[in-house]
Amino acid sequence: MIEIENLIKVYRRGEIEIIAIRDVSLKIDDGEIVMLLGPSGSGKTTFLHILGGIDRPTAGKVMVNGKNIAMMGDKELTDYRRRDVGIVFQFFNMVPTLNAMENVMLPMQFVGTPKSKQKERAMELLRKVGMEQRAKHYPDEMSGGEQQRVAIAVALANDPPIILADEPTGELDTETGLEIIKMFKKLQEGGKTVIIATHDLRLTEYATKILRIEDGKIVEKDTTNNSVLEKEEK
Ligand SMILES: Nc1ncnc2c1ncn2[C@@H]1O[C@H](COP(=O)(O)OP(=O)(O)OP(=O)(O)O)[C@@H](O)[C@H]1O
Ligand SMILES: [Mg+2]
Repeated sequence: MIEIENLIKVYRRGEIEIIAIRDVSLKIDDGEIVMLLGPSGSGKTTFLHILGGIDRPTAGKVMVNGKNIAMMGDKELTDYRRRDVGIVFQFFNMVPTLNAMENVMLPMQFVGTPKSKQKERAMELLRKVGMEQRAKHYPDEMSGGEQQRVAIAVALANDPPIILADEPTGELDTETGLEIIKMFKKLQEGGKTVIIATHDLRLTEYATKILRIEDGKIVEKDTTNNSVLEKEEK
């Protein structure tokens, strides 16, 4: 379970202060698929980066499965980032000089998984996302949707309970985007907690929880009444 209490994130650049997250408190249960909606600059990426241990909060509590990641030291946070969360970014997160298989093996290398096990698991994950035929291919030899599928396999490498995705369909056409979302839905049905930042309202039908963020404030929306949400968005 994720329990956030009075989360605040302030970016300071000299004299200028930008409040990216404004006193947010919320709970996300295990096994939920959450859609985080909000306009550009509202704080979606900041929120995901804090949950992913990439960025640190200015104040507040971020309890993930009983541990406050806001209080973790650098070493512990690195470990959290490698084992407890998998992150899929909008602009594909593959190393261009490594092929698909090597990209999926990389996070396992970081946690010291034996090489033979890395290979076995990488193939299994590529199979899972329908990319086993492309194991030897480099990112620039794959389409955007294919790269995003491999990126999901990379995020799953160390079998984290939580998957975070920052506009994972933003660069894809409608149909490919839906395919990717269905993949996330399957992961949720398999027991993972999935949190997706998106601009795409059609994706909300897959959500168990819809969060709307505006100017750093997050409010929960009723998932049973998406039509109201759509009107509001226009
Ligand atoms: N490293 C940083 N330094 C200073 N300000 C930042 C930094 N990162 C983000 N911000 C500011 O924090 C606010 C929230 O940014 P964030 O990237 O979280 O928005 P977003 O909702 O992801 O937007 P988009 O939909 O465009 O990706 C913005 O005003 C942004 O300019
Ligand atoms: Mg963003």
